[in-house]
Amino acid sequence: MKISVVGTGYVGLIQAVGLAELGFEVVGIDIDEMKIKQLNKGKSPLYEEDLEELLKKHINKNLTFTTSYEPIKDSDVVFLCVGTPQDAEGNADLRFLFSAVEKMKDYLDEKYRVIVIKSTVPVGTNRKVKEILKGYNVDVVSNPEFLREGIAVYDFFNPERIVLGFEDLSNKKPIEIMETIYGYFKEKNIPFIITNWETSELIKYASNAFLATKISFINELAKLSDKVGADIKTISYAMGLDKRIGDKFLNAGIGYGGSCFPKDVKALIKQFENNNIEPILIKATDKVNEEQIKWFFEKIKGYYGNLNGKTFAVLGLAFKPNTDDLRESRAIKLIDMLLDSGAIVKGFDYVEKARENTINMYKLNKSKIVYGYNLYVLDDIYEAVKDVDGIIIATEYDYNKEDWKKIGKLVKEKVIFDGRNVLDVKKVKKLGFKYYGVGRR
Ligand SMILES: NC(=O)c1ccc[n+]([C@@H]2O[C@H](COP(=O)([O-])OP(=O)(O)OC[C@H]3O[C@@H](n4cnc5c(N)ncnc54)[C@H](O)[C@@H]3O)[C@@H](O)[C@H]2O)c1
Repeated sequence: MKISVVGTGYVGLIQAVGLAELGFEVVGIDIDEMKIKQLNKGKSPLYEEDLEELLKKHINKNLTFTTSYEPIKDSDVVFLCVGTPQDAEGNADLRFLFSAVEKMKDYLDEKYRVIVIKSTVPVGTNRKVKEILKGYNVDVVSNPEFLREGIAVYDFFNPERIVLGFEDLSNKKPIEIMETIYGYFKEKNIPFIITNWETSELIKYASNAFLATKISFINELAKLSDKVGADIKTISYAMGLDKRIGDKFLNAGIGYGGSCFPKDVKALIKQFENNNIEPILIKATDKVNEEQIKWFFEKIKGYYGNLNGKTFAVLGLAFKPNTDDLRESRAIKLIDMLLDSGAIVKGFDYVEKARENTINMYKLNKSKIVYGYNLYVLDDIYEAVKDVDGIIIATEYDYNKEDWKKIGKLVKEKVIFDGRNVLDVKKVKKLGFKYYGVGRR
């Protein structure tokens, strides 16, 4: 079976490489020439553990990349994995998706093909795509993606479920083709949810909005804990022991970011509103998240009074650990707020590509210490904390492994604002640090 994957970002590239590893002949298609050039040299344009090794293993064997849509001619299945970012009103912007569908048309002929939409799309989109492809010999399948950046390759081979939405469940042809492609997962007894388009589309939004709501719930509670002297970490732990609640996504912090939760929550709100239903709970989830970072920033400001001329180490740049993705990163939002207040920021992330992306995003000068405005990006955590007035933890890494005694000697003032509640409070306090967490002292 020959497969094309249109869009080679976080989702498409993992899909292409993963399917190649499962033995399929795969072509990745993207409009970004630089990306394709890099990929054909076996270099990954984005950072994910094990991704580059797998890419190198299959490139120019059963995996190739191109900017041309021509390979669609030979393909039995086409996966659409283009971005669906947020538009100015908060809706999912489907321009990339529709443009890919239009381009694809030139290469469709009488041969039967399955077109699979992997991008996160609002309810009704698969139906619209089928409408656009009316008269062509295709079936359109909804197959939302659930991978987590940072462990995306692992997630490809170990999904918790595979969701497949079809136009007509009595039409067995596309179902059988999808079950063949995902035969490896069938053998592993991964649950398959075979349903209609609308249900499949909504499963994706429901899952992301629920997780976001869990985060906003604990974040709101952390504000009260902070005020009354309760410890949110102990509360989360106790709550999580209740199996009905579970311990995941209950760590209070400065809010969720990334390329999915913020935009998907907003897009779900719009889908409710477009159907004249008031999305009370989901709107609150979004609002709590927007407020959380401001609340934390006020905490920092409240400590110093005036941030003008103060220097901070911001630990973590990407939106979560082990990724280079800066989209909607709370660390970047915090950096912007600090810079706007006249502070000097020394940023650090363990992932080299996250540091590179920050340098490129702010168009910083490239030198040994990378600087521009009042922002410096450093390769070494000890360089980042040197002479700072405060340390701010913005991304959820385990910084306890660092030498906090040494850090204590390097900083100007021993103050930590732990935006992810990751530090061993007792330990750092014993070393003379003042500690401010999120609902935790
Ligand atoms: N990133 C995640 O963790 C994740 C997880 C689950 C679902 N999703 C969803 O998957 C989709 C893709 O997300 P992503 O993070 O991979 O996006 P991305 O921005 O990393 O990648 C999108 C790619 O599509 C390419 N592209 C745009 N228009 C194109 C066209 N007409 N033809 C060919 N290529 C085109 C872009 O150049 C880019 O390389 C989105 O709908 C997203 O919501 C993302």
